[in-house]
Amino acid sequence: MSESAVRPAAVIVLAAGAGTRMKSRTPKILHTLCGVSMIGHALGAARDLDPEHLVAVVRHQREKVADHITAWGERHDVDITIADQDEVPGTGRAVECGLEQLAAQDALPVTGTVVVTYGDVPLLTTDLLRKLVSTHETEGNAVTVLTAILEDATGYGRILRDADGSVTGIVEQKDATAEQQEIKEINSGIYAFDAQVLTEALAEVSTDNAQGEKYLTDVLGIARAAGRRVAAVSTKDRWQVEGANDRIQLQALGAELNRRIVRWQMRHGTTVIDPATTWIDATVILEEDTTILPGTQLHGRTHVECGAVVGPDTTLTDVVVGENATVTRTHGSGARIGADATVGPFTYLRPGTVLGEEGKIGAFYETKNVTIGRGSKLSHLGYAGDAEIGEYTNIGCGNITANYDGENKHRTVIGSHVRTSSNTVFVAPVEVGDGAYTGAGAVVRKDVPPGALALSVAPQRNSEDWVENKRPGSAAAEAAKKAKNDDTAE
Ligand code: UD1
Ligand code: CA
Repeated sequence: MSESAVRPAAVIVLAAGAGTRMKSRTPKILHTLCGVSMIGHALGAARDLDPEHLVAVVRHQREKVADHITAWGERHDVDITIADQDEVPGTGRAVECGLEQLAAQDALPVTGTVVVTYGDVPLLTTDLLRKLVSTHETEGNAVTVLTAILEDATGYGRILRDADGSVTGIVEQKDATAEQQEIKEINSGIYAFDAQVLTEALAEVSTDNAQGEKYLTDVLGIARAAGRRVAAVSTKDRWQVEGANDRIQLQALGAELNRRIVRWQMRHGTTVIDPATTWIDATVILEEDTTILPGTQLHGRTHVECGAVVGPDTTLTDVVVGENATVTRTHGSGARIGADATVGPFTYLRPGTVLGEEGKIGAFYETKNVTIGRGSKLSHLGYAGDAEIGEYTNIGCGNITANYDGENKHRTVIGSHVRTSSNTVFVAPVEVGDGAYTGAGAVVRKDVPPGALALSVAPQRNSEDWVENKRPGSAAAEAAKKAKNDDTAE
């Protein structure tokens, strides 16, 4: 497998640009699509190429960008060299700064293949980069540029070819003649270079052009004029070379990436009923025979195990859904749902919720920091927070753990096989032993021993004829009178 064997000396990811069209305080390349920043996508594609060095060139909003890149590297266990671009503008200068940083770090000039990509081209795949590098190396090129044919090539650098079709150089839109502007083959800005040719050519590149920048694109003409092989790899998949400069382009790329992720998941065994309303982050894991119903968003480290059904209208962030569980119309984050458990509809799972196998959290429940044992059910209308519930316990309708005394949070511990009646309030800290019961409306302030029935409501007293005495002539009084007459008539 020659394609996977190629190991470039370095990938240099350009990330020094300003990105002003985003109109944002957040650096452009930190904006996300499918749960990952643009630069995260770019670094991911580069990292999977397994280069000896991974370099990011930064300048604009340097601290935020560099911190984000370093954190990404730590999370993915890769060393990333941060290179600072100086005040000389242009992609050529950016690459030169990257090479200088590497050479300083290793105290040696870089040799071998150097790949250049952009931090704002998020759909580029490692597969396409591999194809670029393997073509570059098998053809023995000095430069290989990734190109695409676009109906509207406005704004891009155009690929210049001579009569026999060989690549002679690149001309920028702003420097192109009217005739050159008709060319539809564009420069993606992604290349494989021979390091030595690149270093030598960059030393010759000037800023004598319409933008006063040191153009990386000039390297092609210089290499070609020196008699070196310059070639192109053209892709039909324009999305892979498209950058996001504003929020409209970011949205379009995000929708396309989501479409690709959803299709990938379907190919790997997930049923997705409505791809158009299903949003799945690049980081989400869906196992075989999972089903995602319409209107569902799965984010972050969410992991749905075999046979589980999620949705409709469900948003999960960092939630593990166990085998064959069902999660219906639920908003959840930082939770674990056991195998064969059911959640929803209209359920709010907050961080620290752990639901055991075959457990249930039903309609209009909010949970936070609660561990619920196997087979236990919290079926309707309540709040469970800072609590631990044993196995096969049934929590009645409308139960609440009063965990907050106004200043501090306290824990409620409920045992196994407990039966709590409707509207029980647990005033934490409090413990309920195994097999205990509570009466309707109980306010549990004291621990309940195993097997006890906790009652806290005063015995009921009926004040006979109260309505007829206090509300004479009212509809209620008339109804009561009629009921009594009917009783005596029988
Ligand atoms: C560049 C190419 C053009 C190509 C286009 C593809 C040059 C001279 N032109 O155009 O042929 O069609 O990309 O999108 O290379 N950057 C830096 N430092 C800089 C300038 C840019 O790191 O000084 C980075 C940017 O952050 C960005 C990338 O390089 O990631 C491209 O910069 P941009 O200004 O968008 O390139 P263009 O001039 O549009
Ligand atoms: Ca520019």
